[in-house]
Parts: sequence; C-alpha cells; structure tokens
Amino acid sequence: MNTEKIDIISGDRQIGINKAADILKHGGIVAVPTETVYGLAASAFDDEAIKKVFIAKGRPQNNPLIVHIDDMKMLDAVAYDIPDTAKALAKRFWPGPLTMVLKKRDNIAKSVSAGLDTVAVRMPSSKDARDIISASGLPLAAPSANISGSPSPTTAKHVISDLDGRVDAIVLGDDCTVGVESTVVALFCTPPRLLRPGAVTAEQLRETLPDLVIDKAVLNEPKKGEAVASPGMLYKHYAPKTETFLVEGESDKFINLVSSKENAAAICFDEEFDKIPGKKIKYGKSTDKKALAKNLFSVLREVDTLKVNGVYIHAPEKSGMGLAVYNRLIRAAGFKVIKL
Ligand code: TXA
Ligand code: MG
Repeated sequence: MNTEKIDIISGDRQIGINKAADILKHGGIVAVPTETVYGLAASAFDDEAIKKVFIAKGRPQNNPLIVHIDDMKMLDAVAYDIPDTAKALAKRFWPGPLTMVLKKRDNIAKSVSAGLDTVAVRMPSSKDARDIISASGLPLAAPSANISGSPSPTTAKHVISDLDGRVDAIVLGDDCTVGVESTVVALFCTPPRLLRPGAVTAEQLRETLPDLVIDKAVLNEPKKGEAVASPGMLYKHYAPKTETFLVEGESDKFINLVSSKENAAAICFDEEFDKIPGKKIKYGKSTDKKALAKNLFSVLREVDTLKVNGVYIHAPEKSGMGLAVYNRLIRAAGFKVIKL
C-alpha cells in the first residue's frame, strides 16, 4: 500500500486536515497526532475500516479501541446512561488525556469494542486531532499508531517506522507533549476502576471518585487464563528487542548494579548519568515525572540501537504520573523486576 504523508507543519495545514478527514469519511485509516501518543484512526461507525486498523497493527481481535470525540454531543452519540461522575470528570479533564469506559450505543461498529457492551471514550486536547475529528464529523476509533507490542509512537518518525506501507495516510504533526497514553477509568461499574494510569493521576481522580479501585493488572502480571477488566493489560507491550529489566532501589545501588554488568546498558535518571561508566541513556530527572513520561517511549525505541545483551531501567516512584511510567516499564520488562 502506498501511504500518503500529510505534512501539516510545513505544508498547508487546513488542506492537510481536510484531506485526512476525507480519507476517514471514505473508510480509510489514518495515523493522527494527539497530545498523548499518535493514534491510528478510523470511523467508529465503519466496521470494515476498524478491521483494517486491527490488521495494520497486528492487534489481537479481543483488545478494544478508544473512541475519540470532539464535543459533548458526540458523547451522547456513542454512549448512554452517562453517570454524573463522568460529567464531572469531563468538565475537569476534557479535552485531555482521560478515557472513560461507559455503556455503548449500538451504532458503534462491533469490532471497536471487541464484543463488549461498553465503549472507551476520550476528547483529546490536541488541536490537530480535534480539527480532524470535527472536519470528518465522525467519532474516531484510534489505538496507538504502532505495531502491536512495540513502544507507542510519540513522533511522526516513530509512526513511519512502524506503519509506512500499512495504512492509507500518516499526518505528520508535532511530537506528543504528554508521551504516555491516556488514563483509562471504567465508570459503568461500581466502584469505578482505574484500568490504565496516565497523565490524569489516580490522586486527581479520587477527588471526584473517592471509592476508585486500582485494577490489579496496573502493577501486576495477569495470570494465564485470568479475566481482566481491560484486555490491553494482558499483552506484553512496549518492549524493546533487547532483554529489559526494571530496577527498583536507591541511586547508588542502581549505579553499582549496572556498572557490574557486562555488555549491558542503563536507562537512568539525569542526575545518575555522569556516574555510570558504560552505555547509558537518560530519561529525565527522577523528580520530574512529566519529563520521564514524555521521554519514555523514545528511549525504549533507542535501546535496540545500543547493541547490548541487556538493559537495566531505573524505576521512578509510583506516585502521581510515576504510576503511568512504572506501568509501561514493567510491561516493557516483561514483569522482570529487580528490587535492590
Ligand atoms: O492516549 C490514548 O489513549 C491513545 C491515543 C491515540 O488516544 N490511544 C491508546 O489506544 O492508547 P490503545 O488502543 O493503545 O489503548 C486502549 C486501551 C487498551 O488497554 C484497551 O484494552 C482499553 O483501552 N479499552 C478500550 N476499550 C475498552 C473497554 N470497552 N473496556 C475496557 N478497556 C478498554
Ligand atoms: Mg497501544
């Protein structure tokens, strides 16, 4: 397939937005920038188009997609029985990196929700994503625009490297500002449940949802055959090809560990960088969780260029946005955690 590149930075932005919307209206699949990660979009009403998304990504059929909307009218078109808590959260966090799982309307294509009777919905804050949704007039189902299992794409370059030749078009926009995927919270159930941590933190959600439960798949490896609330949590994810370990513990101990390993590399905090003798990549100051989140996926893609046998990543604290970073890293490491 010849993938059209739609450059909305150096090319005419409005023409590009309209072109992307046109392809989507005609059943095509288009990678678009959002503030979290790039998404691979298709009309949420078009089952054939959604199936193409699953094929392009190599995504397991039982892992449902998030539907992206542009205004509250579209929310009513995709979900019903919307609880007051959802309205309160929308008021505070939309547009932005929060996805709410609600009861699904029947007009949504079956494969969007992989047979579930719920739908995950988010209103992105990225102007590019919003303008494409509104130009198409469609709610857009969009998983992250990567090959299933590889680190999520936070730049147009990442998308090209994974999906060139597999999708109708790629919109070349800015790098993503958040860098990790949206927070996913299930609100159709009692008590509400955090399925995936993101930039909207568990602490912030609790101000509206005091009884919020953190799903155990957020921090633990699901057992084989175990039912999970969010199928996306089942899979090994975000993984470099190099064998990856997540390391918890103090700086000195982390530095000693990585210094003792042969033909290995470290992914470390900025303040540790100069103290590590071998191959290394830094991903932000330990206290700057926003930076750690923003750099995370680029760094995971860079690992394989180091040509080492193993990589040791220093884990952040799990509070605030640290929980989102930890959740992605533990999957990248295939749940191999070293506690020092
Ligand atoms: O930030 C984001 O959310 C990005 C951008 C493109 O918006 N999208 C994204 O999509 O991360 P994806 O497909 O990579 O992740 C969707 C997650 C998966 O873990 C999936 O299992 C969960 O949302 N999900 C979707 N629909 C669900 C549902 N009805 N019930 C439970 N979990 C659901
Ligand atoms: Mg994904």
